[in-house]
Amino acid sequence: MTSIVEQLTRAVGGAFKTVGLPAELGAVFESDRPDLAPYQCNGAMAAARHARRAPRVVAEAVAARLAKDHPALKVAIAGPGFLNLTPPMDMYAQRGDALSEDARAGARMAVQPLRLMLDFGGPNVAKPMHVGHLRSSIIGDSLQRLMRFRGHQVMSDIHLGDWGLQMGHLITELEDECPDLPYFDAALTGPYPGQAPVTIEDLARLYPQASAKARKDPVRNDRSRKATAELQAGRPGYRALLRHFINVSIAALKDDFRALGVHFDLWKGESDVNDLIPELVADLKARGVAEQSDGAWVVRVDREDDSKALAPLILVSNQGSALYATTDLATILDRQRRRNPDLILYVVDLGQSYHFEQVFRAACKAGMVRENTLEHVKFGTVNGPDGKRLRTRAGDTFRLADLIDTARERARERLNEAGLGAELSEMEFENVARAVANAAIRFSDLQNLRTTNYAFDLDRFVSFEGKTGPYLQYQAVRIKSLLKKAAGKGVAPGSMVISHDTEAALIRRLDGFETALVRAERDRAPNVLCEHAYSLAQAFSGFYTACPILSERDEAVRSSRLRLAETALRQLELVLGLIGIDVPERM
Ligand code: ARG
Repeated sequence: MTSIVEQLTRAVGGAFKTVGLPAELGAVFESDRPDLAPYQCNGAMAAARHARRAPRVVAEAVAARLAKDHPALKVAIAGPGFLNLTPPMDMYAQRGDALSEDARAGARMAVQPLRLMLDFGGPNVAKPMHVGHLRSSIIGDSLQRLMRFRGHQVMSDIHLGDWGLQMGHLITELEDECPDLPYFDAALTGPYPGQAPVTIEDLARLYPQASAKARKDPVRNDRSRKATAELQAGRPGYRALLRHFINVSIAALKDDFRALGVHFDLWKGESDVNDLIPELVADLKARGVAEQSDGAWVVRVDREDDSKALAPLILVSNQGSALYATTDLATILDRQRRRNPDLILYVVDLGQSYHFEQVFRAACKAGMVRENTLEHVKFGTVNGPDGKRLRTRAGDTFRLADLIDTARERARERLNEAGLGAELSEMEFENVARAVANAAIRFSDLQNLRTTNYAFDLDRFVSFEGKTGPYLQYQAVRIKSLLKKAAGKGVAPGSMVISHDTEAALIRRLDGFETALVRAERDRAPNVLCEHAYSLAQAFSGFYTACPILSERDEAVRSSRLRLAETALRQLELVLGLIGIDVPERM
């Protein structure tokens, strides 16, 4: 199966070769001036250097050769020597047939499948999830879907934040409220009750309560720090409590993520690698990778060519405790031992760039990983309409559950306004509203260049018009209903006969799927998938406006168009699936 671009590249490359120039000059791509021709080749410009001939002369020689070998291909020379190429309609028809027969609608598998580890989500136990975690989850999940689709072996891990001072806050605050619980009796070593002593609401209350007190009162803060240290050192009652806190949090998080359609293979956290830390630290000390500095143990990670020296990574603080970077290093060790991944991707906001640079350099320096096997997939912040970091009206950080609720609310309103889903049962309508809300949230986030900040505007995102998730979803549903109607009328799809420009344009978009996938993978860029989905939907809409299907009299043309519609739907559903958008049966 070769794309039109590849077929043309072979033809033009062959022509370059016969006129005595390297075949590589024949690279063809989709034209940036589609008004002149759909494809172009700029090889003659580069060839001028090789051949010491004017580009125009080279272009003419190549065009003459092409006219002989591929008479059906229209070649025009523009400007100083650009080759403009217009393939015959047959070529589109053949390509369209091939795409229609392919379950993956033209998507190939990665040539070299990798073992990938994806670290994303990263919510913190007991702290409410905020939009930063939401972005990480959405981008990470889309990359996970893409990488799997490309044939890579993916293992995703939520990497919960469950090992910092917040655990000490929770423990001490709970102790103040319920001092009689067996977990606080230092003389006891278990067994402890299997039933959790707290609910998720308790956790959501206890943490802010404690941290507010600790901010005002250093003595209160020290109690939390001490409890954290004891927890890390293995005090049994605290460990048992930690397990409860984690389990309660995970249960709630699973609900949130299920609502969003975000999947994790592993629900591990920072605390899972605690037992590896002593070994890691001892090893780094023994090999001289870690050095002593002001009572702490650090790994120096600055390099000569740094424009600004990078501060050393603190492995063990002067209080003797392991820090965020330490758990990240221990997690790398754990992942290496268990899965030996070729690459670990960390989908975490830009604000943590410094941290990851330190961790990656330290891991390389310690010989734990090869260079370039750890990668920070960074993203910008989500802002409110005022251009500042998104907050709720009350000024707190945005909570994920609230966001999902609001989006669903708006989705219901929009559906009603648009007169959609009127004939659905209540349950079906609710499912559609959920799917629309998800589509709005996902698309609005993913369509942006990962590293830019973007302004959150729910009203715009939930609209069925413009470049939105719900618009794309609706286009797909429309094609679905068209296909159902055709089936009802006994119209069957048949092989392609292409004659209209909008048909050719649609096939060109379909044919660009593989390129979009490769680019999205290379740049870790779900926005490329969004772009492809949108341009595909637009190409379909141009085609459908110009080319009637069910009312077309010519049977062969009708069947061909139906097949084209069917293929467009298949690809649209595939690419929307990679973004995490479901297409309802009807709406
Ligand atoms: N829990 C962290 C936070 O909320 C994010 C974790 C990112 N992943 C990692 N391996 N450090 O900021």
